[in-house]
Amino acid sequence: MLKLKNVPDLRKVPTPFWYYDMDLFRRTIDTVAALSQEYGVIVHYSIKANAEPRLVDYIAAAGLGADCVSGNEVLYAMEHGFAPEKIVFAGVGKTDRELSDALRAGIGSFNSESLEELQTLDRLAGEMGLKANVSVRINPDVDAHTHRFITTGLEMDKFGIPKKDMDQVIDLVKSSRNLHFKGLHFHIGSQITDVENVFTNECISANGIVAYFEDHGLRVDNIDLGGGLGVDYYNPDSHAVPEFGLWFQTLTEHLRHRPDQQIHVEPGRALVAQCASLVARVIFVKEGERKSFVILDAGMNDLLRPALYGAYHKIENLTYKSDELRLYDVVGPVCESTDVFAEDRTLPLTRRGDLVALRSGGAYGSVMSSTYNMRAPAYAVFSDEPFPDFK
Ligand code: LLP
Repeated sequence: MLKLKNVPDLRKVPTPFWYYDMDLFRRTIDTVAALSQEYGVIVHYSIKANAEPRLVDYIAAAGLGADCVSGNEVLYAMEHGFAPEKIVFAGVGKTDRELSDALRAGIGSFNSESLEELQTLDRLAGEMGLKANVSVRINPDVDAHTHRFITTGLEMDKFGIPKKDMDQVIDLVKSSRNLHFKGLHFHIGSQITDVENVFTNECISANGIVAYFEDHGLRVDNIDLGGGLGVDYYNPDSHAVPEFGLWFQTLTEHLRHRPDQQIHVEPGRALVAQCASLVARVIFVKEGERKSFVILDAGMNDLLRPALYGAYHKIENLTYKSDELRLYDVVGPVCESTDVFAEDRTLPLTRRGDLVALRSGGAYGSVMSSTYNMRAPAYAVFSDEPFPDFK
């Protein structure tokens, strides 16, 4: 159960807000930083998961790199202390402007996702008299066994360069004077829970592709296996820190690599999901003809994951305890039928005015929020700071 620290009278605080457990956050980052050293796996935080400045600053100071997917993320990462050479930049649709800005900044690697992108980067770098560090993102056609909407490594997906284009890529990179080939990149999907099997399959596929590039005369110094490590949305307290050790062990064991080759990863969710909860108030409990609706003052505009992916977030009542269990649909106030956090969820008896926490919202929560219906954004509260004063 979530315990709020430094929160004054719970009945009076404005809602909804994001509550950050900063002890857990720091413990998670310190753990991944230590394991990164132990296993020799270089970690880039995927900033898209949560760009809260306090989190990003701490992650940069812990020595991790950054994984970005837009020009603005690259600029933001640099403003928040990531050295350019520790930044990797993926994405299927980088504009000329985004490519030139990142080139000028001297980022560590463009993780390029199409032949056209490589040709454009080659031309821009030539015009600017610079050399672009590139890794080639190959679509390995490996199933991540996760939700279809967060699967990225199948032939049906828009991501990565199809294997059929590998020869053309190799020719282009070898003939270019403006591209500095760093290595290969893969990312097969997100919220991967079958860690050993899925990441072993990714490694097996990567082994073949790395060998193909090297056999064709390109030295692969960096092998970036992407992000994707899942978290336990059902048991956020007993599995608060994800299994980074198991992940790194699986990768280092199954990826064929020489001592001079560096393994990189790009976790987002695993670093930040468990450290934040969305705290909301029950506005009404409405007894419908077929369902009981718990109506919150947070909606899909605050936390989109349930509406978009049918994602599960644990819901806890922070202010009222009851032994009586009821079946509820927990919904938001937004004028959309998909504004549902949980359908047919068994919860203790819930009443108007109760405060509830939607757990594990630290990743892809606040960053995917909007002001739809002209709703005000949820504010942030940190466990190690006084509660914001609204007077
Ligand atoms: N690297 C690349 C190239 C990515 O596209 C992503 C995530 C990551 C790394 C980080 O993946 P993670 O470790 O967080 O699984 N909004 C969805 C997740 C979308 C993930 C997009 N790409 C959700 O709420 O589940």
